[in-house]
Amino acid sequence: MAIHVVTGGAGFIGSHLVRHLLADGHAVRVVDDLSVGRREAVPAGAALTVADINDTAAMAAALDGAAGCFHLAAVASVERCTRDLVGSHDTNLRGTLAVFDAAVKAGVPVVYASSAAVYGVPATVPLTEASPTVPISAYGADKLGCELHARAAGPVLGLRSCGLRFFNVFGPGQDPSSPYSGVVSIFADRLARGEPLTVYGDGTQTRDFVYVGDVVRALRAALEVADTTAPVSNVCTGTAITLLDLAAALGDVLGRAPEIRHAPPRAGDIHTSLGDASRMAALLGLRAEVTLADGLAATLKAV
Ligand code: NAD
Ligand code: UD1
Repeated sequence: MAIHVVTGGAGFIGSHLVRHLLADGHAVRVVDDLSVGRREAVPAGAALTVADINDTAAMAAALDGAAGCFHLAAVASVERCTRDLVGSHDTNLRGTLAVFDAAVKAGVPVVYASSAAVYGVPATVPLTEASPTVPISAYGADKLGCELHARAAGPVLGLRSCGLRFFNVFGPGQDPSSPYSGVVSIFADRLARGEPLTVYGDGTQTRDFVYVGDVVRALRAALEVADTTAPVSNVCTGTAITLLDLAAALGDVLGRAPEIRHAPPRAGDIHTSLGDASRMAALLGLRAEVTLADGLAATLKAV
């Protein structure tokens, strides 16, 4: 079938995507510097190039003859970007420009990961793609920069792209070992070990948690609509819960009440996040199907 490139394919979302592409008979080339991802996470059958996305020669070689590029490589932690402003920018914005540049030269369409973090503090929820984008973190600022460059590079350079504003993605395979990991993986791992959970702030912050399998379907549908108008879509469920409710829901699945310890809120942390999934339905022709309860059960099963 076709050749697809997945940057960040050794990471959480990328490794799920690679598995699905391989299962459908595609050839997959992964470009990942293994700064966070693990070699063992890259599904057998995919060709791994261990390289920085800023490595022009590596990206050109990977994209040669490819039908599409899924650009997922990034420093994905909001907190980590705050602590490493320049280093994270090198990957999250400069690295994305390097991917766009290589894709233009190779004539390959790009689906890239943006984020709900581009919205910042919402005036109203649910957040639609027409909501104001005023990021409150370096991470969100760089993700918005990716979208602006995609929009500029479409008409000017002929870049075909589609940007996906993922809300909070969860599911099996998200590494819980780092404090910078996604909250579901950390909470699931700690609860399974009978350890207390650390909640930054009072725990009333809300998140729209979307299951990784639904995100993979969105990524694949986005390749079909990537064009020079650089469309952007939320990838969300349209429902949100508080962190305290998330902890309780995980406890329910395990039949164990979570012990919660509070710590000061993280800088750049958004309090309220809830997406509107209308454009996702209209543009990508799909909606999130996996319920939070089913997704949490699948996640805990894998811990
Ligand atoms: P992840 O950290 O598991 O995967 C990112 C991968 O990128 C890792 O394997 C890492 O080694 C690789 N990488 C980092 N810098 C690189 C570089 N300079 N060159 C090559 N490879 C590099 O993160 P994830 O959760 O799978 O996120 C994938 C994408 O989705 C990211 O762009 C992230 O910002 C975005 N996103 C994630 C979520 C979420 O909830 N997980 C939500 C919104 C957006
Ligand atoms: C997450 C993603 C980010 C994405 C964004 C989109 C990760 C690591 N981050 O950021 O890439 O762009 O969603 O909405 O996948 N928390 C705790 N205790 C913990 C860990 C976290 O209380 O042990 C809190 C955080 O302070 C935050 C919430 O849980 O309020 C979610 O944190 P996190 O999973 O890191 O995600 P986001 O910062 O929302």
